[in-house]
Amino acid sequence: MGAADHFELNSGASMPRLGLGTYKLDGPASETVALIRRAIELGYRHFDTASLYGNEEAVGQALIDATRAGDVTREELFVTSKLWNDDQLRAAEAFGESLKRLGLDYLDLFMVHWPWPQNGTYVDAYRALIEARDRGDIVSVGVANFYEETLDALIDATGVAPAVNQVELHTGFTQPELRAYHSEHGILTEAWAPLGRGEILGEPAITETAKAYDATPGQIALAHLLAHGISVIPKTANPERLVENFGALDITLSDNEVARLDAVQGRRQSNDPRTFPG
Ligand SMILES: NC(=O)c1ccc[n+]([C@@H]2O[C@H](COP(=O)([O-])OP(=O)(O)OC[C@H]3O[C@@H](n4cnc5c(N)ncnc54)[C@H](OP(=O)(O)O)[C@@H]3O)[C@@H](O)[C@H]2O)c1
Repeated sequence: MGAADHFELNSGASMPRLGLGTYKLDGPASETVALIRRAIELGYRHFDTASLYGNEEAVGQALIDATRAGDVTREELFVTSKLWNDDQLRAAEAFGESLKRLGLDYLDLFMVHWPWPQNGTYVDAYRALIEARDRGDIVSVGVANFYEETLDALIDATGVAPAVNQVELHTGFTQPELRAYHSEHGILTEAWAPLGRGEILGEPAITETAKAYDATPGQIALAHLLAHGISVIPKTANPERLVENFGALDITLSDNEVARLDAVQGRRQSNDPRTFPG
């Protein structure tokens, strides 16, 4: 991956634009390890996991094996994990547990997974992440599923804007207002479900653009978000789709094509963070 394949974060760290999502990559550990080793061979350097996914051990094992084999160095990898909602009041301890399961010395990015506003504890959790960053255990602090009011609360309380907010975002649900807020505050937008979990890939704007590029619908859905400067973390358990999804980095859409994809009307596929009960 070259410099052009990275985004610079407000922490000064550099994050690969495309990573591998690992939600539901929860089969036998040996399969997860093999898939991640293959991803590294193909050029993936950015891996997204969470304590919720139950696969931090397998993800970490693959990364450690790959560094020991000399396929990659730890410095070239970008590893994200997340603090689950129940752990918001024991964030420092839960972070330590994630790090231990991963078998790593530090994380590139650690996120508060959901604001879970009903519980009123996300600012305390975020403060604990900043302390871990100040100790050198986390390079960048982030959040996921935060919206304007909850981001305001974090920034007001700590003076620190998260480096990244990872939110549901895909063609048909591109969250322009939230992205404008992120730009104003120096927060990088990262898209989860960037393929809309496969549900959006039959959209004519996607399939017709795919034909024009001799590309696949998945590649166009990802290229659409990359064109907006949004980081993407498509999940696949399929080695052929690992290659396919990584190929999105080679596609540069025209302004007209991006505008057509922007005009697709869709909806959220998952929980609304304002009401998600945690
Ligand atoms: N922060 C959060 O709250 C949050 C929530 C959800 C997800 N995430 C993160 O974001 C990542 C991505 O989101 P996601 O997994 O929900 O959804 P996604 O990446 O949009 O979609 C994954 C689904 O699409 C299929 N797929 C993958 N590549 C494809 C392609 N080229 N063509 C057609 N189908 C394809 C996968 O099946 P196969 O595996 O069979 O290929 C899987 O069923 C997660 O893995 C996780 O790391 C974060």
